Amino acid sequence: MKGLRIILTSIALAMLFPLGTSAQKTANYDESLIKPYSLPDPLRMESGRKVRSVRQWEKKRRPELIRLFSEEVFGYVPGKPEGVHFRELTAGEAFDGKALRKEIAVYFDAEETDSLVLLLYLPKEAKGPVPAFLGINFFGNYTTTLDPEVTFPSEAQIAADGNGYGEKPRGFQARRWPYEYILSRGYAVATFYCGDVDPDYDDGFTNGVHGTIYKAKMRTGSSWGTISTWAWGLMRAMDYLESDSSIGKVAVIGHSRLGKTALWAGALDERFSMVISNESGCTGAALSRRAIGETVGVIQSKFPHWFCRNYLKYSDKENTLPVDQHELLALVAPRPLYVASADGDKWSDPKGEYLSLLGAAPVYELYGLEALKDPDQPRVSFPVSAGRSAYHLRHGRHDIVLYDWIQYLNFADQFLK
Ligand code: GCU
Repeated sequence: MKGLRIILTSIALAMLFPLGTSAQKTANYDESLIKPYSLPDPLRMESGRKVRSVRQWEKKRRPELIRLFSEEVFGYVPGKPEGVHFRELTAGEAFDGKALRKEIAVYFDAEETDSLVLLLYLPKEAKGPVPAFLGINFFGNYTTTLDPEVTFPSEAQIAADGNGYGEKPRGFQARRWPYEYILSRGYAVATFYCGDVDPDYDDGFTNGVHGTIYKAKMRTGSSWGTISTWAWGLMRAMDYLESDSSIGKVAVIGHSRLGKTALWAGALDERFSMVISNESGCTGAALSRRAIGETVGVIQSKFPHWFCRNYLKYSDKENTLPVDQHELLALVAPRPLYVASADGDKWSDPKGEYLSLLGAAPVYELYGLEALKDPDQPRVSFPVSAGRSAYHLRHGRHDIVLYDWIQYLNFADQFLK
């Protein structure tokens, strides 16, 4: 069954990407080759009517954009299942007694068929609720830290994952999660493994919660892809965080594919008080119509499972998309939004990420807020912000490093404390 599905997917992809299309081409990084495009106006309804008030935005245009992104790009995200509940699995001190560590199972149904495990660190000396960062990790909670007490995946979890879970060494990506520094700034941090919700490979949507919790559902063109599923996982983690009285406001953060996810979760769920996109690139912060670096066609030739099937229609036809990514960013308004790029990460189109943020400005302005307007992309290592939007271009390659976190914390200090 699984084999047949893979063959059918390959045939469908071969039909959509015959030889010579963008799936085979090397990426274009030449700005002069960008074809003229015009961006959809975030404040113009599908009907052609202009949005003139916050009320019209919130009641009409915002839901319309969420529908368009759900229908054509990511697939519809289901709501909170009835049986969601939590159980603390472990609790203890960490980092020389400076922090409290908890591991919490977030069960998706009353029967405890499936769950994610949230790793949460809190500053130990905190008085009252502390603001928190929530982000998904690529390879498992135990890879985000050298803290030896973080539970290693069980044999059953490794088998259910089928995607190399447990192979990376402890602390493999600890550099990306500077917990002690974040805690020292007075914030909590929570993370879970993406594969807890949906392992990151194309298996025809039989694994992860697609298989365990939603098995009865037929897939259509707008059924949720993996990014929607991860975003759903972020919302379930948020269900827990809002139930924990030691946690205050929550910023959702993500790098790369998980940055695309953070943006989508932040757009959908207004419980996230701040949204941070670290080098989310194609179908994240970057404008699709520039079609530079990774394009809508290229991304789907490699990662078709991230999106809904309807999105395939727009491969090499970015101009026909009913939305562009500045409108995903606009869905975060009026909440604080940080977009960051790296100069060595041309694949993510740093300039397209910045221009996208500018494209979201009219919605912030509708709320009477200042927004970034300078058409020139900020120089490397010169973070900029206006009102509730911020941007930086870091020197270096595709990654999330301490420099990025320092900027996010500085920005968060203004809004989350
Ligand atoms: C690939 C993919 C990107 C993605 C990145 C990542 O490079 O093409 O779209 O953002 O992986 O998640 O690291």
